[in-house]
Amino acid sequence: MTAKPNDLNKRAFFADLGYVPHTGQREIHESTARCRVVACGVRWGKTRCAAMEGLAAAMAPAERSIGWVVGPTYDLADRVFREMQLAVANHLRHRIVSIKESERRIQLRNMAGGLSEIRAKSADNPNSLLGEGLDWVIVDEAARLKPSIWQSHLSQRLLDKQGWALLISTPNGKGYFHELFRLGQGRDPDYQSWNRPSWGNPLLNTQDIERERGRLPEQVFREQYGAEFLEGSGAVFRNVRECATGEWRPPIPGETYFGGLDLAKVEDYTVLVIVNRRLEVVFVDRFHRIDWSQQVNRIRVAARRYNNALVNCDTTGLGDPIYESLAQAGCCVQEYPFTQRSKSALINNLAMRLEEKVIVLPRPEIWPEGIDELESFQYSVTDSGHVRSGAASGRHDDCVIALALAVWQPSPRYRRVTFMRRLAPISMHRRLAAARLRNRW
Ligand SMILES: Nc1ncnc2c1ncn2[C@@H]1O[C@H](COP(=O)(O)OP(=O)(O)OP(=O)(O)O)[C@@H](O)[C@H]1O
Ligand SMILES: [Mg+2]
Repeated sequence: MTAKPNDLNKRAFFADLGYVPHTGQREIHESTARCRVVACGVRWGKTRCAAMEGLAAAMAPAERSIGWVVGPTYDLADRVFREMQLAVANHLRHRIVSIKESERRIQLRNMAGGLSEIRAKSADNPNSLLGEGLDWVIVDEAARLKPSIWQSHLSQRLLDKQGWALLISTPNGKGYFHELFRLGQGRDPDYQSWNRPSWGNPLLNTQDIERERGRLPEQVFREQYGAEFLEGSGAVFRNVRECATGEWRPPIPGETYFGGLDLAKVEDYTVLVIVNRRLEVVFVDRFHRIDWSQQVNRIRVAARRYNNALVNCDTTGLGDPIYESLAQAGCCVQEYPFTQRSKSALINNLAMRLEEKVIVLPRPEIWPEGIDELESFQYSVTDSGHVRSGAASGRHDDCVIALALAVWQPSPRYRRVTFMRRLAPISMHRRLAAARLRNRW
Protein backbone atom coordinates (compact mmCIF):
# COMPACT_ATOMS: atom_id res chain seq x y z
CA MET A 1 0.00 0.00 0.00
CA THR A 2 1.48 3.38 -0.91
CA ALA A 3 0.54 6.89 0.11
CA LYS A 4 -1.48 8.72 -2.54
CA PRO A 5 -2.27 12.42 -2.41
CA ASN A 6 -5.87 11.89 -1.39
CA ASP A 7 -5.72 8.88 0.90
CA LEU A 8 -6.39 11.07 3.88
CA ASN A 9 -9.12 13.52 4.69
CA LYS A 10 -6.80 16.39 4.06
CA ARG A 11 -9.25 19.11 4.88
CA ALA A 12 -9.74 17.78 8.41
CA PHE A 13 -6.02 17.07 8.76
CA PHE A 14 -5.10 20.62 7.75
CA ALA A 15 -7.68 22.02 10.13
CA ASP A 16 -6.04 20.03 12.94
CA LEU A 17 -2.72 21.59 12.01
CA GLY A 18 -4.27 25.07 12.01
CA TYR A 19 -3.57 25.47 8.29
CA VAL A 20 -6.25 27.09 6.17
CA PRO A 21 -5.11 26.99 2.53
CA HIS A 22 -6.04 29.97 0.39
CA THR A 23 -8.04 29.34 -2.78
CA GLY A 24 -5.00 28.74 -4.97
CA GLN A 25 -3.39 26.39 -2.48
CA ARG A 26 -6.66 24.48 -2.13
CA GLU A 27 -6.67 23.74 -5.87
CA ILE A 28 -3.25 22.15 -5.55
CA HIS A 29 -4.24 20.04 -2.57
CA GLU A 30 -7.34 18.83 -4.40
CA SER A 31 -5.52 17.80 -7.57
CA THR A 32 -4.85 14.09 -8.09
CA ALA A 33 -2.37 14.55 -10.96
CA ARG A 34 0.78 12.44 -10.59
CA CYS A 35 2.94 15.47 -11.30
CA ARG A 36 1.88 18.89 -10.05
CA VAL A 37 3.83 21.91 -11.24
CA VAL A 38 3.37 25.14 -9.29
CA ALA A 39 4.93 28.14 -11.03
CA CYS A 40 3.87 30.99 -8.78
CA GLY A 41 5.32 34.29 -7.62
CA VAL A 42 7.46 34.97 -4.60
CA ARG A 43 5.58 34.64 -1.28
CA TRP A 44 2.57 33.09 -2.94
CA GLY A 45 2.57 30.30 -0.36
CA LYS A 46 4.27 27.54 -2.35
CA THR A 47 6.50 26.26 0.42
CA ARG A 48 3.72 26.21 3.01
CA CYS A 49 1.43 24.42 0.60
CA ALA A 50 4.07 21.83 -0.32
CA ALA A 51 5.04 21.21 3.30
CA MET A 52 1.42 20.55 4.25
CA GLU A 53 0.94 18.29 1.25
CA GLY A 54 4.04 16.31 2.17
CA LEU A 55 2.89 15.91 5.76
CA ALA A 56 -0.53 14.74 4.62
CA ALA A 57 1.21 12.12 2.48
CA ALA A 58 3.36 11.04 5.39
CA MET A 59 0.30 10.63 7.61
CA ALA A 60 -1.73 8.76 4.99
CA PRO A 61 -2.37 5.12 5.93
CA ALA A 62 0.42 2.89 4.63
CA GLU A 63 2.55 0.03 5.84
CA ARG A 64 5.59 2.02 4.93
CA SER A 65 6.08 5.20 2.97
CA ILE A 66 8.95 7.41 2.07
CA GLY A 67 9.07 10.89 0.62
CA TRP A 68 11.81 13.35 -0.17
CA VAL A 69 12.00 17.11 -0.09
CA VAL A 70 14.63 18.22 -2.59
CA GLY A 71 16.11 21.65 -3.26
CA PRO A 72 19.00 22.92 -5.39
CA THR A 73 20.94 23.25 -2.09
CA TYR A 74 20.37 22.04 1.46
CA ASP A 75 19.33 25.53 2.51
CA LEU A 76 16.56 25.55 -0.05
CA ALA A 77 15.43 21.98 0.71
CA ASP A 78 15.36 22.95 4.37
CA ARG A 79 12.63 25.52 3.84
CA VAL A 80 9.95 22.92 3.20
CA PHE A 81 11.53 20.43 5.58
CA ARG A 82 11.67 22.89 8.49
CA GLU A 83 8.06 23.88 7.93
CA MET A 84 7.13 20.20 8.20
CA GLN A 85 9.29 19.74 11.23
CA LEU A 86 7.63 22.68 12.93
CA ALA A 87 4.15 21.35 12.24
CA VAL A 88 5.18 17.92 13.52
CA ALA A 89 6.63 19.44 16.70
CA ASN A 90 3.53 21.54 17.30
CA HIS A 91 0.76 19.16 16.33
CA LEU A 92 2.00 15.63 15.72
CA ARG A 93 4.44 15.07 18.54
CA HIS A 94 2.69 11.82 19.53
CA ARG A 95 3.41 10.46 16.04
CA ILE A 96 7.17 10.98 16.08
CA VAL A 97 9.22 7.81 15.90
CA SER A 98 12.51 9.59 15.44
CA ILE A 99 13.92 12.90 14.25
CA LYS A 100 17.52 12.89 13.07
CA GLU A 101 18.57 16.47 12.53
CA SER A 102 21.99 15.60 11.11
CA GLU A 103 20.45 13.31 8.51
CA ARG A 104 17.51 15.60 7.91
CA ARG A 105 15.18 12.70 8.49
CA ILE A 106 11.83 12.45 10.28
CA GLN A 107 10.13 9.13 10.93
CA LEU A 108 6.44 9.17 11.85
CA ARG A 109 3.82 6.63 12.79
CA ASN A 110 1.11 7.18 10.15
CA MET A 111 -2.66 6.77 10.43
CA ALA A 112 -2.44 3.01 9.80
CA GLY A 113 0.29 2.57 12.38
CA GLY A 114 2.85 2.12 9.58
CA LEU A 115 6.18 3.87 9.36
CA SER A 116 6.55 6.98 7.20
CA GLU A 117 9.82 8.65 6.49
CA ILE A 118 10.51 12.18 5.28
CA ARG A 119 13.99 13.19 4.17
CA ALA A 120 15.47 16.46 2.91
CA LYS A 121 18.00 16.19 0.08
CA SER A 122 20.19 18.58 -1.82
CA ALA A 123 20.45 18.30 -5.57
CA ASP A 124 23.98 19.68 -5.56
CA ASN A 125 25.02 16.23 -4.39
CA PRO A 126 23.45 13.94 -7.01
CA ASN A 127 25.02 10.85 -5.42
CA SER A 128 22.74 11.29 -2.45
CA LEU A 129 19.77 11.07 -4.82
CA LEU A 130 20.50 7.51 -5.86
CA GLY A 131 18.77 4.52 -4.44
CA GLU A 132 15.36 4.02 -3.05
CA GLY A 133 11.93 4.13 -4.68
CA LEU A 134 9.77 6.98 -3.44
CA ASP A 135 6.09 7.44 -2.72
CA TRP A 136 6.38 11.16 -3.23
CA VAL A 137 8.86 13.90 -3.92
CA ILE A 138 8.60 17.64 -3.41
CA VAL A 139 11.07 19.87 -5.25
CA ASP A 140 11.42 23.46 -4.01
CA GLU A 141 12.88 26.14 -6.32
CA ALA A 142 12.55 23.49 -9.02
CA ALA A 143 13.32 25.89 -11.88
CA ARG A 144 16.81 26.34 -10.46
CA LEU A 145 17.64 22.64 -10.58
CA LYS A 146 19.79 21.25 -13.36
CA PRO A 147 17.40 19.54 -15.81
CA SER A 148 19.38 16.30 -15.51
CA ILE A 149 18.52 16.08 -11.81
CA TRP A 150 14.82 15.82 -12.54
CA GLN A 151 15.20 13.66 -15.63
CA SER A 152 17.91 11.24 -14.51
CA HIS A 153 17.48 11.12 -10.76
CA LEU A 154 14.15 12.18 -9.33
CA SER A 155 11.48 11.20 -11.84
CA GLN A 156 12.90 7.68 -11.93
CA ARG A 157 12.67 7.29 -8.16
CA LEU A 158 8.88 7.49 -8.53
CA LEU A 159 8.40 4.70 -11.06
CA ASP A 160 8.45 1.62 -8.78
CA LYS A 161 5.82 2.86 -6.39
CA GLN A 162 3.84 4.99 -8.81
CA GLY A 163 4.70 7.93 -6.60
CA TRP A 164 3.69 11.56 -7.07
CA ALA A 165 5.73 14.74 -7.53
CA LEU A 166 5.07 18.32 -6.56
CA LEU A 167 7.44 20.82 -8.13
CA ILE A 168 7.25 24.37 -6.83
CA SER A 169 9.17 27.40 -8.03
CA THR A 170 9.13 30.94 -9.26
CA PRO A 171 9.76 30.76 -13.03
CA ASN A 172 13.36 31.05 -14.15
CA GLY A 173 13.50 31.40 -17.91
CA LYS A 174 12.25 28.70 -20.20
CA GLY A 175 14.07 25.53 -19.20
CA TYR A 176 12.83 22.05 -18.26
CA PHE A 177 10.56 23.48 -15.56
CA HIS A 178 8.70 25.46 -18.20
CA GLU A 179 8.39 22.27 -20.27
CA LEU A 180 6.86 20.43 -17.33
CA PHE A 181 4.59 23.37 -16.72
CA ARG A 182 3.38 23.19 -20.32
CA LEU A 183 2.63 19.49 -19.98
CA GLY A 184 0.38 20.41 -17.11
CA GLN A 185 -1.65 22.81 -19.21
CA GLY A 186 -3.80 20.05 -20.71
CA ARG A 187 -1.14 18.36 -22.82
CA ASP A 188 -0.67 15.36 -20.54
CA PRO A 189 -3.31 13.98 -18.14
CA ASP A 190 -0.64 12.95 -15.61
CA TYR A 191 0.42 16.56 -15.21
CA GLN A 192 -1.36 19.60 -13.83
CA SER A 193 0.15 23.04 -13.46
CA TRP A 194 -0.64 26.44 -12.00
CA ASN A 195 0.78 29.85 -12.77
CA ARG A 196 -0.22 32.62 -10.37
CA PRO A 197 1.36 35.95 -9.43
CA SER A 198 2.34 36.78 -5.86
CA TRP A 199 -0.73 38.94 -5.44
CA GLY A 200 -2.82 35.75 -5.86
CA ASN A 201 -1.99 35.16 -2.19
CA PRO A 202 -4.77 37.05 -0.37
CA LEU A 203 -2.67 37.10 2.80
CA LEU A 204 0.07 39.18 1.21
CA ASN A 205 0.31 42.92 1.78
CA THR A 206 -0.16 44.56 -1.61
CA GLN A 207 1.75 47.66 -0.50
CA ASP A 208 4.86 45.55 0.02
CA ILE A 209 4.50 44.19 -3.50
CA GLU A 210 4.12 47.66 -4.96
CA ARG A 211 7.22 48.79 -3.13
CA GLU A 212 9.17 45.94 -4.73
CA ARG A 213 7.76 46.89 -8.13
CA GLY A 214 9.35 50.32 -7.75
CA ARG A 215 12.63 48.92 -6.52
CA LEU A 216 13.32 46.11 -8.98
CA PRO A 217 14.08 46.18 -12.68
CA GLU A 218 10.86 45.52 -14.58
CA GLN A 219 11.90 42.12 -15.96
CA VAL A 220 12.79 40.86 -12.54
CA PHE A 221 9.55 42.04 -11.02
CA ARG A 222 7.57 40.42 -13.82
CA GLU A 223 9.33 37.13 -13.27
CA GLN A 224 9.62 36.97 -9.51
CA TYR A 225 6.30 38.54 -8.57
CA GLY A 226 4.28 38.26 -11.77
CA ALA A 227 5.49 34.64 -12.19
CA GLU A 228 5.96 35.15 -15.94
CA PHE A 229 8.12 32.74 -17.89
CA LEU A 230 10.46 35.16 -19.63
CA GLU A 231 13.06 34.40 -22.23
CA GLY A 232 16.66 34.57 -20.97
CA SER A 233 15.69 35.47 -17.44
CA GLY A 234 17.08 34.75 -14.01
CA ALA A 235 19.99 36.83 -15.21
CA VAL A 236 20.31 40.20 -13.51
CA PHE A 237 22.21 41.98 -16.27
CA ARG A 238 20.90 42.31 -19.77
CA ASN A 239 22.72 43.50 -22.89
CA VAL A 240 26.07 42.34 -21.55
CA ARG A 241 27.31 41.15 -24.96
CA GLU A 242 25.91 44.19 -26.74
CA CYS A 243 27.89 46.42 -24.38
CA ALA A 244 31.09 44.36 -24.71
CA THR A 245 32.65 46.12 -27.69
CA GLY A 246 35.44 48.07 -26.00
CA GLU A 247 39.23 47.83 -25.71
CA TRP A 248 41.73 48.42 -22.90
CA ARG A 249 42.81 52.05 -23.09
CA PRO A 250 45.89 53.80 -21.69
CA PRO A 251 45.35 56.87 -19.51
CA ILE A 252 44.72 60.15 -21.33
CA PRO A 253 46.08 63.33 -19.69
CA GLY A 254 43.29 65.49 -18.31
CA GLU A 255 40.70 62.71 -18.44
CA THR A 256 38.72 61.87 -15.28
CA TYR A 257 38.71 58.26 -14.12
CA PHE A 258 36.78 56.35 -11.51
CA GLY A 259 37.65 53.02 -9.95
CA GLY A 260 35.84 50.23 -8.19
CA LEU A 261 37.71 47.88 -5.90
CA ASP A 262 36.51 44.52 -4.61
CA LEU A 263 38.96 43.04 -2.16
CA ALA A 264 39.54 39.30 -1.94
CA LYS A 265 38.04 37.58 1.06
CA VAL A 266 39.36 34.02 1.32
CA GLU A 267 38.86 32.14 -1.92
CA ASP A 268 38.16 34.84 -4.44
CA TYR A 269 40.03 37.58 -6.28
CA THR A 270 40.84 41.20 -5.71
CA VAL A 271 39.58 43.16 -8.68
CA LEU A 272 40.15 46.78 -9.63
CA VAL A 273 38.06 48.19 -12.48
CA ILE A 274 38.71 51.66 -13.90
CA VAL A 275 36.23 53.52 -16.07
CA ASN A 276 36.35 56.93 -17.67
CA ARG A 277 33.67 59.59 -17.45
CA ARG A 278 31.83 58.07 -20.44
CA LEU A 279 31.60 54.76 -18.53
CA GLU A 280 34.06 52.96 -20.79
CA VAL A 281 35.97 50.29 -18.89
CA VAL A 282 39.59 51.14 -19.67
CA PHE A 283 41.54 48.97 -17.25
CA VAL A 284 41.04 45.91 -15.05
CA ASP A 285 43.47 44.27 -12.68
CA ARG A 286 42.57 40.94 -11.09
CA PHE A 287 44.78 38.95 -8.78
CA HIS A 288 44.72 36.71 -5.72
CA ARG A 289 46.92 35.19 -3.06
CA ILE A 290 49.36 38.05 -2.81
CA ASP A 291 50.02 39.78 0.48
CA TRP A 292 48.37 42.99 1.64
CA SER A 293 51.31 45.32 1.04
CA GLN A 294 51.70 44.10 -2.53
CA GLN A 295 48.00 44.49 -3.10
CA VAL A 296 48.06 48.04 -1.78
CA ASN A 297 50.99 48.86 -3.97
CA ARG A 298 49.49 47.38 -7.11
CA ILE A 299 46.20 49.21 -6.62
CA ARG A 300 47.94 52.46 -5.74
CA VAL A 301 50.11 52.36 -8.86
CA ALA A 302 47.18 51.65 -11.16
CA ALA A 303 44.97 54.34 -9.64
CA ARG A 304 47.77 56.89 -9.80
CA ARG A 305 48.51 56.02 -13.43
CA TYR A 306 44.89 56.77 -14.29
CA ASN A 307 45.18 60.39 -13.17
CA ASN A 308 44.63 59.54 -9.52
CA ALA A 309 41.33 57.85 -10.13
CA LEU A 310 38.84 58.10 -7.33
CA VAL A 311 38.34 54.52 -6.20
CA ASN A 312 35.20 53.28 -4.53
CA CYS A 313 36.01 50.47 -2.18
CA ASP A 314 33.96 47.92 -0.26
CA THR A 315 35.10 48.48 3.33
CA THR A 316 33.15 45.72 5.04
CA GLY A 317 35.11 42.97 6.77
CA LEU A 318 38.67 42.72 5.59
CA GLY A 319 38.20 45.70 3.31
CA ASP A 320 38.69 48.28 6.03
CA PRO A 321 42.40 47.86 6.85
CA ILE A 322 43.39 47.84 3.20
CA TYR A 323 41.23 50.87 2.60
CA GLU A 324 43.08 52.66 5.39
CA SER A 325 46.44 51.60 3.93
CA LEU A 326 45.44 52.86 0.50
CA ALA A 327 44.32 56.17 1.94
CA GLN A 328 47.57 56.50 3.86
CA ALA A 329 49.50 55.70 0.68
CA GLY A 330 47.89 58.77 -0.90
CA CYS A 331 45.23 56.97 -2.91
CA CYS A 332 42.01 58.77 -3.51
CA VAL A 333 39.67 56.19 -2.03
CA GLN A 334 36.05 56.47 -1.10
CA GLU A 335 34.46 53.88 1.18
CA TYR A 336 31.31 52.08 0.26
CA PRO A 337 30.20 49.94 3.19
CA PHE A 338 28.08 46.97 2.14
CA THR A 339 24.73 46.36 3.67
CA GLN A 340 21.99 44.37 2.02
CA ARG A 341 20.37 47.64 0.97
CA SER A 342 23.50 49.42 -0.25
CA LYS A 343 24.61 46.37 -2.21
CA SER A 344 21.25 46.02 -3.83
CA ALA A 345 21.30 49.73 -4.82
CA LEU A 346 24.74 49.21 -6.33
CA ILE A 347 23.71 46.18 -8.37
CA ASN A 348 20.48 47.81 -9.51
CA ASN A 349 22.43 50.84 -10.69
CA LEU A 350 24.72 48.64 -12.76
CA ALA A 351 21.74 46.68 -14.13
CA MET A 352 19.98 49.90 -15.18
CA ARG A 353 23.09 51.21 -16.90
CA LEU A 354 23.58 48.01 -18.84
CA GLU A 355 19.89 48.03 -19.67
CA GLU A 356 20.33 51.55 -21.07
CA LYS A 357 23.51 50.37 -22.84
CA VAL A 358 25.49 53.34 -21.58
CA ILE A 359 28.44 51.26 -20.35
CA VAL A 360 31.16 50.04 -22.68
CA LEU A 361 32.71 46.77 -21.48
CA PRO A 362 35.89 45.23 -22.89
CA ARG A 363 35.28 42.62 -25.62
CA PRO A 364 34.63 39.07 -24.32
CA GLU A 365 37.92 37.88 -25.85
CA ILE A 366 39.94 40.27 -23.70
CA TRP A 367 37.82 40.13 -20.53
CA PRO A 368 36.28 36.62 -20.52
CA GLU A 369 36.02 36.29 -16.75
CA GLY A 370 34.22 39.64 -16.41
CA ILE A 371 31.70 38.90 -19.14
CA ASP A 372 31.11 35.42 -17.74
CA GLU A 373 30.52 36.74 -14.24
CA LEU A 374 28.11 39.39 -15.48
CA GLU A 375 26.14 36.85 -17.49
CA SER A 376 25.91 34.32 -14.69
CA PHE A 377 24.92 36.80 -11.99
CA GLN A 378 21.42 35.80 -10.94
CA TYR A 379 18.44 36.76 -8.92
CA SER A 380 17.27 34.38 -6.22
CA VAL A 381 14.91 34.52 -3.29
CA THR A 382 16.09 34.65 0.32
CA ASP A 383 14.52 32.73 3.20
CA SER A 384 12.73 35.90 4.23
CA GLY A 385 11.24 36.16 0.77
CA HIS A 386 13.39 39.04 -0.45
CA VAL A 387 14.84 38.96 -3.90
CA ARG A 388 18.61 39.04 -3.76
CA SER A 389 21.19 38.88 -6.45
CA GLY A 390 24.51 37.08 -6.54
CA ALA A 391 26.85 34.81 -8.40
CA ALA A 392 25.40 31.45 -9.44
CA SER A 393 26.70 28.69 -7.20
CA GLY A 394 30.37 27.95 -7.77
CA ARG A 395 30.94 31.24 -9.61
CA HIS A 396 32.75 34.39 -8.55
CA ASP A 397 31.32 37.88 -8.48
CA ASP A 398 34.41 40.04 -7.83
CA CYS A 399 34.46 41.56 -11.32
CA VAL A 400 30.76 42.38 -11.05
CA ILE A 401 31.16 44.10 -7.69
CA ALA A 402 34.24 46.04 -8.78
CA LEU A 403 32.49 47.19 -11.95
CA ALA A 404 29.38 48.15 -10.02
CA LEU A 405 31.50 50.21 -7.60
CA ALA A 406 33.30 51.90 -10.50
CA VAL A 407 30.15 52.98 -12.32
CA TRP A 408 28.40 53.98 -9.12
CA GLN A 409 30.55 57.05 -8.74
CA PRO A 410 29.74 58.93 -11.89
CA SER A 411 26.04 58.29 -11.51
CA PRO A 412 23.78 61.27 -10.84
CA ARG A 413 22.38 59.39 -7.85
CA TYR A 414 25.82 59.23 -6.31
CA ARG A 415 26.27 62.96 -6.65
CA ARG A 416 22.91 63.70 -5.14
CA VAL A 417 22.74 61.23 -2.29
CA THR A 418 26.14 59.94 -1.33
CA PHE A 419 28.09 63.08 -1.79
CA MET A 420 25.62 65.36 -0.03
CA ARG A 421 25.50 63.01 2.95
CA ARG A 422 29.21 62.77 3.17
CA LEU A 423 29.96 66.32 4.17
CA ALA A 424 31.34 65.29 7.53
CA PRO A 425 33.98 62.72 6.71
CA ILE A 426 35.88 61.52 9.75
CA SER A 427 39.46 61.70 8.66
CA MET A 428 41.58 63.91 6.50
CA HIS A 429 41.96 61.58 3.56
CA ARG A 430 38.20 61.11 3.42
CA ARG A 431 37.73 64.88 3.35
CA LEU A 432 40.29 65.06 0.60
CA ALA A 433 38.52 62.42 -1.40
CA ALA A 434 35.24 64.31 -1.07
CA ALA A 435 36.89 67.55 -2.17
CA ARG A 436 38.44 65.92 -5.21
CA LEU A 437 35.15 64.44 -6.13
CA ARG A 438 33.47 67.82 -5.84
CA ASN A 439 36.03 69.35 -8.20
CA ARG A 440 35.19 66.79 -10.81
CA TRP A 441 31.64 67.98 -11.17
N1 LIG B 1 -2.56 29.40 3.89
C1 LIG B 1 -1.76 30.16 4.62
N2 LIG B 1 -2.17 30.65 5.81
C2 LIG B 1 -1.36 31.44 6.56
N3 LIG B 1 -0.13 31.82 6.20
C3 LIG B 1 0.33 31.38 5.01
C4 LIG B 1 -0.44 30.52 4.17
N4 LIG B 1 0.27 30.27 3.06
C5 LIG B 1 1.44 30.90 3.22
N5 LIG B 1 1.49 31.56 4.37
C6 LIG B 1 2.58 32.39 4.89
O1 LIG B 1 2.96 33.31 3.86
C7 LIG B 1 4.37 33.45 3.80
C8 LIG B 1 4.85 33.02 2.41
O2 LIG B 1 4.58 31.65 2.25
P1 LIG B 1 5.63 30.64 1.63
O3 LIG B 1 6.96 30.80 2.26
O4 LIG B 1 5.00 29.32 1.64
O5 LIG B 1 5.64 31.28 0.17
P2 LIG B 1 6.56 30.91 -1.07
O6 LIG B 1 5.71 31.07 -2.26
O7 LIG B 1 7.23 29.60 -0.84
O8 LIG B 1 7.59 32.08 -0.99
P3 LIG B 1 9.07 32.15 -1.62
O9 LIG B 1 8.87 32.43 -3.06
O10 LIG B 1 9.64 33.30 -0.85
O11 LIG B 1 9.76 30.85 -1.33
C9 LIG B 1 4.95 32.58 4.91
O12 LIG B 1 5.15 33.38 6.04
C10 LIG B 1 3.85 31.57 5.18
O13 LIG B 1 3.88 31.07 6.49
MG1 LIG C 1 9.31 29.04 -0.85
